[in-house]
Amino acid sequence: MDNLKYGHAGKVFVITGGSRGIGLELARRLLQEKAKVAICARKQEGLDLAAKDLNGGDALLAVPTHIAKEEEVDILFAQTFSRFGKIDALINNVGMNLLTPSLVETESSTWKKIIDSNLTGTYYCSRSAAKIMQGQGGGKIICISSLAACRAAPGMGIYGIAKAGIEMLTKTLAAELAADNIQVNAVAPCMIKTGFSSPFWSNQEVHDEIVKGIPLGRLAEINDIIDPVLFLCSSGANFITGQVIAVDGGASVV
Ligand SMILES: NC(=O)c1ccc[n+]([C@@H]2O[C@H](COP(=O)([O-])OP(=O)(O)OC[C@H]3O[C@@H](n4cnc5c(N)ncnc54)[C@H](OP(=O)(O)O)[C@@H]3O)[C@@H](O)[C@H]2O)c1
Repeated sequence: MDNLKYGHAGKVFVITGGSRGIGLELARRLLQEKAKVAICARKQEGLDLAAKDLNGGDALLAVPTHIAKEEEVDILFAQTFSRFGKIDALINNVGMNLLTPSLVETESSTWKKIIDSNLTGTYYCSRSAAKIMQGQGGGKIICISSLAACRAAPGMGIYGIAKAGIEMLTKTLAAELAADNIQVNAVAPCMIKTGFSSPFWSNQEVHDEIVKGIPLGRLAEINDIIDPVLFLCSSGANFITGQVIAVDGGASVV
């Protein structure tokens, strides 16, 4: 499919977790559309490789950031604003999971790590972005949730709970920020073929079992997620807020 265009030229985007997977490809598409993009990740090495790969010149900023650390999030948004002078959209793309035993058997430290990196970090980033957007007359915040937010899946319990929290964060922010012309939405994908999920889909038996639950008969590719996110960031979505859009080949309806 030819790349669709969403009118993002000249707009400024922050993508959390942009060093690989979905975040990296979102950054690539936005740079192709002549947008300006700030990406972050915890590891400098991954960011350096991504920056080299993206080759975005002055339109790209890469800031090492752990989104669960407030002071690092402050620096990410301060540097982005200082470089580009505004933030039109935040894409809350960071997500991580540690394969956990049952909730009852999980250590508190594991619970905290997963909740902090997924939910609390998404809150910190959204809050920082919203303060800037309030001062400039509007903006868009998009969260990447997951089908796991509404399915109790083995090994993904705390991750799913964090994603469910992100969906409620999306709705609450949408209600609170509507008067500031800030629209807040989420997409909830099924399994997408990235490194993050490769322990599952690289096993043929597990792959086939997952695909059985997807009416469209395949896992998602990264491109399946990019267009819905770019649409939600566009003026075509100005009257959509507080929504969680399933991008899951129909998995959530069967
Ligand atoms: N892949 C799937 O099957 C799937 C399905 C449903 C939803 N999702 C969601 O889609 C989003 C992207 O997933 P993906 O598959 O592209 O993941 P990925 O390939 O693992 O990439 C994650 C990115 O986030 C960064 N990151 C992780 N924790 C971070 C933190 N605390 N602070 C800052 N950066 C952090 C990583 O870099 P560092 O490691 O250097 O920090 C990396 O750049 C996630 O929200 C995920 O939950 C994925």
